Amino acid sequence: SYQVTIKSSGKAFTVSPGQTLLQACLDHGVAIDYSCEQGVCGACMTKVVSGELQHGDVYLSAKEKDSGTLIMPCVSGCRSETLILDI
Ligand code: FES
Repeated sequence: SYQVTIKSSGKAFTVSPGQTLLQACLDHGVAIDYSCEQGVCGACMTKVVSGELQHGDVYLSAKEKDSGTLIMPCVSGCRSETLILDI
């Protein structure tokens, strides 16, 4: 599990093992658009401030993944203890 902080509101919550980052955000009232929930469509793309990302999608380019500034929360998550989202 890891902790997520929403930059704009300061809201913080935990993403449990077996739960997607997208689901955790929606459960905590953080609205993120989504569609495929399979890392394919691009609808859920979210900006990242910091965190060691673990990418599981096929939407972002390798360069975008390496930048550490974008994540597809329907399938991707964070390896470090804290993820800060730029929303
Ligand atoms: Fe389609 Fe996340 S909802 S990539």
